Order: sequence, then structure tokens, then C-alpha cells
Amino acid sequence: MIWVLLTTLLSLTTALQWTDSLTNNTVMTVCSASDIHLPWNFTLSPDERIEDIKWIYWAEDGSEGLIAIFAANFFNPVPAFSGRAQWTGQGGIVVSQAAVAESGNYTVMVSTGDATHPLVTFSKTIYVHVADPPTAQSGELHVLQEPDAVLDNETRQWRVELTCGVLTSPGHPAVHVVWTTPAGHTLQSSSEHNGTFRLLLPNPPSGGNYTCTLPTLSPATRCLPPLSLLLEGATVIVDQVKVSFTLLEARQRETEARLEVKLRESESKQQHMLTLMSTENARLQAELDSVKNENNQQNSYISAFQNTTESLKARLDAASTRVSFHARLPSTLDNFHGRLHPFNIITNEGDALNGTTGIFTTPRNGTYFFVASSSSDSADTLVFMYLMKEGTRVAFAYARQYSSYTAAATCHATLHLTVGERVWVESAYSNTYYYYESTSFTGFLLGADDW
Ligand SMILES: *[C@@H]1O[C@H](CO)[C@@H](O)[C@H](O)[C@H]1NC(C)=O
Ligand SMILES: *[C@@H]1O[C@H](CO)[C@@H](O)[C@H](O)[C@H]1NC(C)=O
Ligand SMILES: *[C@@H]1O[C@H](CO)[C@@H](O)[C@H](O)[C@H]1NC(C)=O
Ligand SMILES: *[C@@H]1O[C@H](CO)[C@@H](O)[C@H](O)[C@H]1NC(C)=O
Ligand SMILES: *[C@@H]1O[C@H](CO)[C@@H](O)[C@H](O)[C@H]1NC(C)=O
Ligand SMILES: *[C@@H]1O[C@H](CO)[C@@H](O)[C@H](O)[C@H]1NC(C)=O
Ligand SMILES: *[C@@H]1O[C@H](CO)[C@@H](O)[C@H](O)[C@H]1NC(C)=O
Ligand SMILES: *[C@@H]1O[C@H](CO)[C@@H](O)[C@H](O)[C@H]1NC(C)=O
Ligand SMILES: *[C@@H]1O[C@H](CO)[C@@H](O)[C@H](O)[C@H]1NC(C)=O
Repeated sequence: MIWVLLTTLLSLTTALQWTDSLTNNTVMTVCSASDIHLPWNFTLSPDERIEDIKWIYWAEDGSEGLIAIFAANFFNPVPAFSGRAQWTGQGGIVVSQAAVAESGNYTVMVSTGDATHPLVTFSKTIYVHVADPPTAQSGELHVLQEPDAVLDNETRQWRVELTCGVLTSPGHPAVHVVWTTPAGHTLQSSSEHNGTFRLLLPNPPSGGNYTCTLPTLSPATRCLPPLSLLLEGATVIVDQVKVSFTLLEARQRETEARLEVKLRESESKQQHMLTLMSTENARLQAELDSVKNENNQQNSYISAFQNTTESLKARLDAASTRVSFHARLPSTLDNFHGRLHPFNIITNEGDALNGTTGIFTTPRNGTYFFVASSSSDSADTLVFMYLMKEGTRVAFAYARQYSSYTAAATCHATLHLTVGERVWVESAYSNTYYYYESTSFTGFLLGADDW
């Protein structure tokens, strides 16, 4: 009994010993199309003999099975591995022409026995990672600064964007480029699409060299040939002043777009928005001035930027011009024939009415409303007037006072006018009388064509 126990212990301690350095669950990385070396080695105890050795795999693509079997001193690969699997002695094999899909667990199982003991199986498993290098359209990386800023969805800020690519394949495991800022910091891409990597520059952006490289420790990068241009990465020089302009331009375009939208809304909102937009434009202008001082060489940017600023300002000015007037006669016109004038101006927003001549001159295309009114103040007087548009009568009013019954007359018209067209009040008959207190001329813009 004790003897049996002793020989069992003895045979256990002297059984198969692994001599290779591949411990269970080692991860081994190889590049696709190269060889997978699995140098499993062992020593046996003196009277131990090999029954058989099996090599088995479990691939990531779900396939699994036997690679080869060693028995009766013969190494036999299964048909699928025939010509690809070679025995290197003991538990070692080489599988040539590895494919990415063959990444997975590889196991060796050694069954040994001796005269007195039943079969014992020893096994070891390692994970083989088959990596594939990335490929690029032109064999190298290109990085550039996008001409237009993009709106960052999270912060609602305009950002300058760099793009790096184009990878036709990201390799296996897929690589993502890393960015190095002028200060030497490492950044991950903001997004990736179809092999092009994008980096939104931090705000405020700093000028200098931005580099885009493949991560050197990635198994895929390591499978690139040593002279591959992809290993060099790519650098773009970001010009601090140009970046500031790109951002300012984007903000100005946004301001303009918002202005267009808002101006189509209601009249009262319109005035409010105009005020906000003018403030914003003034702020942009101030910012531009400060950037301008930083660098006088950027004249072409400044000129282009100022041109858009000027045109925006002109449109703002035009949109905020209101037109309305009210005027009265300073003294009574007796026995008067012809255009009523001069007038005393009471209101004259937009300066469209000339008080000296009594002529209204249209400052903006649009629809206007006019009223001319008068009333008698003494017996047997006559009011006889037309509202005239460029010599054409558009309204007529007549009033005559008999004895002490006063009479009143009013002309009014809604007119669509274009810039420069004139409107006035005319007395059509000489024997007339326009009492200064009761004679007035009023008009205003109902709606402009241009907004
Ligand atoms: C494994 O054993 C073989 C045959 O004895 C020997 O040639 C080879 O160098 C050994 N490999 C390792 C990694 O020990
Ligand atoms: C490989 O073995 C590890 C550890 O047992 C396991 O987690 C993994 O799922 C295996 N992979 C495959 C492809 O069989
Ligand atoms: C490796 O792991 C297998 C399964 O867990 C185990 O049976 C075997 O004894 C281990 N081999 C070594 C050398 O640790
Ligand atoms: C912002 O969101 C839109 C739609 O949700 C998307 O199409 C666009 O790519 C995003 N832009 C950025 C810079 O993330
Ligand atoms: C992705 O890029 C390839 C060229 O690299 C192009 O042929 C393909 O149309 C692109 N696909 C999309 C969805 O943009
Ligand atoms: C930026 O890159 C250019 C060429 O790519 C190089 O001449 C220059 O010295 C670099 N500047 C810095 C600050 O690294
Ligand atoms: C800005 O406007 C001026 C005058 O209209 C013109 O001469 C100049 O070429 C414009 N500049 C740019 C960059 O468009
Ligand atoms: C009004 O018209 C007269 C005569 O054409 C002109 O002399 C005067 O300058 C004009 N007044 C204004 C304020 O435009
Ligand atoms: C005013 O209207 C005329 C005639 O339709 C047109 O020719 C002109 O360009 C318009 N002016 C403005 C400033 O819109």
C-alpha cells in the first residue's frame, strides 16, 4: 500500500516537464502572411513515452479543430493544414501564412504513459493574435487644415478642424491616429469617417506644428514594413492669425444667417434682433481690429473680412431706417394755386419730406400711406386739393364753407413707391384758402420691399 503510494508520487514528480517559456495564456502577436511559431518543448521522465501529441485551435471566426497529430513517430497535419503546418521537434510546430481570421487559442496536448501507469495528458494554450498592417491611399498620411470652421455640437462654439488620412484599411486590430500639438500634448481624434480622422482644435487654438501619426505600439503599426512612409506620420503648420480669421469668418457667416432668418419674422422682433446683430457685428469688428494690430501682414484677410463687414453694416443700416413724417403749414395760403409749401416739420424720420419744397422723396422701395387734410375757417372759402405722385393725381378732396358752417377735406392714398419717386399736395384752383392751423400733410412707410 505504502509502496504503491510512493511510486505514484515518484512518477508524478518525474513526469513531463515543460521547458519552453510559453506559459499558459501567453499572448503572441504575429503579422498576417508570416509564420506562427509555437515552440512548445518538454522533457520526459526516464521510462515515460509519448502516446500522441495533438495541436488544436479555436479561432475568432468561430472555426475550431485539429491542426495536426503526432503518433507512432509520424507527424500528420489534417488536410486543411497540409503543407502549412510543420513539426519542429517535441511539441513544437510552425503554421505558415497566418491569416487575420486565424487569431485565436492554440493548444498542444501531449498524452504520455509508461508500463505501469495509465495515460496522462498535459496541455498548454496560448493566444495568437494575427495582426494586419494599415494601408493608405497614397502610401502615406496627409494632414491638412480645413478652410472652413465647423460648429462643435457640444459646446456650440466654432472650431478649426484638421483632417488626417486617408486610410483605405485601418489594419487589424484597427488603428486610430494620434495627434501631437505644438506644445507636445497627445490628443485623440474627435471623429473618424471612412479612413479620415478629424481633430477639432481646442479653443482658443494655438498656432504651430500639429502632427498625426500611427500609434507606434499598436500591433497593426508594428506589422508595417520598416521603410513604410506611413511610419513617418504627417505635419501641418497651423498659422495662428489665419485660424483666428477662419473662426471670425465662421461667426460672421453665422451672424448673417441668423440675421436673414430673424428678419423674416415679425416687425417688433425685427427691431430687437437688429439691435442684437449690430452689437454682435460691432464686437466682431472690435475683435478684428485687435487681431489686425497683431499682424499687419495679413492685409488680404483683413480686406476680405472688412468688405463683408461693411456690406453687413450697410444692410443693417438700411434695414433699421424708418420713414414717417408729419408737417403743418406755418402760415395761411390764400388765393393759392400750385404745390402747397413750405411746411413746418413736426416729425421726419428718414428725412424724406423736404419742408422747404413740400416734396416727399421715396427713400426705400415699399408701400407708403399718405394723408393731406384741411378745413375752412371763414365764410365762402374753398379747399381744392390733390395728392400728387410724380405729376399724377392719386386723390382729390374738395370743401366749401357757406355762412358759418365749416367744412373739412381729406385726401389719402396707399401707394407702392420706388426709390426717388416724389409725392406732394397740390392746390388745383387759384381761388382757394388753406388755413394754417388746419392744414397738414402726413405719411409713413407701411412695409419695405427689401426685408
Ligand atoms: C525545442 O527542442 C528542439 C529539439 O530538441 C530544439 O531544437 C529547440 O531549440 C527547442 N526550443 C526551445 C525554445 O527550447
Ligand atoms: C481563448 O481562451 C480564452 C481563455 O480561456 C477565452 O477567454 C477566449 O474566449 C478564447 N478565445 C477563443 C477565440 O476561443
Ligand atoms: C494550462 O491550462 C489548462 C486548462 O486550464 C490546464 O489543464 C493545464 O494544466 C495548464 N498547463 C500549465 C502548464 O499550466
Ligand atoms: C453635429 O451634428 C450633426 C447632426 O446631428 C452631424 O451631422 C454633424 O456631423 C455633427 N458635427 C460635429 C462637428 O460633430
Ligand atoms: C470611402 O472611401 C473610399 C475611398 O477610400 C471611397 O471609394 C468610398 O466611396 C468612401 N465611402 C463613403 C461612404 O464615403
Ligand atoms: C514645423 O515643421 C516645419 C516643417 O515641417 C519645420 O521646418 C519647423 O521647424 C517646425 N516647427 C517647429 C516649431 O517644430
Ligand atoms: C474689397 O472691396 C474693395 C472695394 O470694393 C475691392 O477693391 C477689393 O478688391 C475687395 N477686397 C476683397 C478681398 O474682396
Ligand atoms: C430742400 O430742397 C431745397 C430746394 O431743392 C434744397 O435747397 C434744400 O437743401 C432741401 N432741404 C433738405 C433738408 O434736403
Ligand atoms: C427698387 O425697385 C426698382 C424697381 O423695381 C428696382 O429697379 C430697384 O433695384 C429697387 N431698389 C432697391 C434698393 O431695392
